Amino acid sequence: MKAIVCTKYGAPKDLQLKEVPKPIPNENEVLVKICATAVNDYDWSLVRGKPYIYRLMFGFLKPKAQIPGMELAGVVEALGVNTTKFKLGDFVYGDISAYGFGSFAEYICIDENALIHKPNTMSFEEAASIPHAATLALQGLIDTGKMQKEQKVLINGAGGGMGTFGLQIAKLYNAEVTGVDTGDKLETMKLIGFDHVIDYKKEDFTKNGKHYDLILDAKTNRSIFSYTRSLSPNGKYITVGGNLTKLFLLLILKFWVSKFSKKRMHIVSLKPNKDLDYINELFENGNIKPMIDGPFTLSEIPKAIQYFGKGKHKGKVVITVVDDSSQV
Ligand SMILES: NC(=O)c1ccc[n+]([C@@H]2O[C@H](COP(=O)([O-])OP(=O)(O)OC[C@H]3O[C@@H](n4cnc5c(N)ncnc54)[C@H](OP(=O)(O)O)[C@@H]3O)[C@@H](O)[C@H]2O)c1
Repeated sequence: MKAIVCTKYGAPKDLQLKEVPKPIPNENEVLVKICATAVNDYDWSLVRGKPYIYRLMFGFLKPKAQIPGMELAGVVEALGVNTTKFKLGDFVYGDISAYGFGSFAEYICIDENALIHKPNTMSFEEAASIPHAATLALQGLIDTGKMQKEQKVLINGAGGGMGTFGLQIAKLYNAEVTGVDTGDKLETMKLIGFDHVIDYKKEDFTKNGKHYDLILDAKTNRSIFSYTRSLSPNGKYITVGGNLTKLFLLLILKFWVSKFSKKRMHIVSLKPNKDLDYINELFENGNIKPMIDGPFTLSEIPKAIQYFGKGKHKGKVVITVVDDSSQV
């Protein structure tokens, strides 16, 4: 089978499209023919081996997982002897990060618990774009933020995957949503329903005197105190990732913020695939629609990762591995 292989840390252009052995499932795994996959922040970090702290997870000198990719949608082609969840030919999707990487390939063997059934109305590309970004937004706004009707919400880093799902989830609560990003993404963000957009290159939202009930952050690039300044008296700041130094400071200081005010600061630790069934329901009811940038092809993955790293993408960067649209 063909796969994108990363044998050393470097630039996305150093990735190679290679012929590698097709895997055989162990007892708890299923063999999936991958139809679509998506690019994530982890792939951008894994390929470059940066930030260096990530090498604790990825491998010090070279990546332990040589095939990147952590989201997939595809068709079950073989079953391990102990598997019970799926049958041959089932359409599946999921975030496989709890069980390893490897979705930048034509096939993968993966623990059946990394996958759920894909609704028939959802294309493989849509399914590949959902697991990571939609669950981050859901766990940030609902599980952690305990979102209420008609709140004022700001999403920082709003034009990417998490932000575009975050908008749609916040709108289920009739929220007034402000998105912070830059460039021609701002026009697209207005078109998909953000009530207000702020260009972070022209305006620091923490200094404009406005207050929000919930701030959902994909970048964590401002000081902790500037975030608290932008919260309403009972407001919550929730970050899903970003600048590692600022995240570390937040971890230390959030206790003191809650000691001296009613404001709350939270860091979301993603639970992969949690509530994907609910996302399926929202999709089938027409309440969420993934925003897809691409799709690129398998051999274009180096280009797609570079594009992701430059931050010009709108929504999720998606790869079509095998065109199985006839099966949907
Ligand atoms: N908590 C967890 O367990 C967990 C797990 C996995 C991933 N994560 C994190 O979750 C986040 C996922 O976000 P995503 O997939 O939506 O990322 P994304 O698609 O890269 O979107 C981020 C957006 O932020 C914009 N941006 C860059 N600098 C900015 C700034 N200073 N102010 C405002 N916006 C800025 C980027 O555009 P430009 O670059 O053009 O400016 C981009 O449009 C990442 O931080 C990832 O590391 C968390």
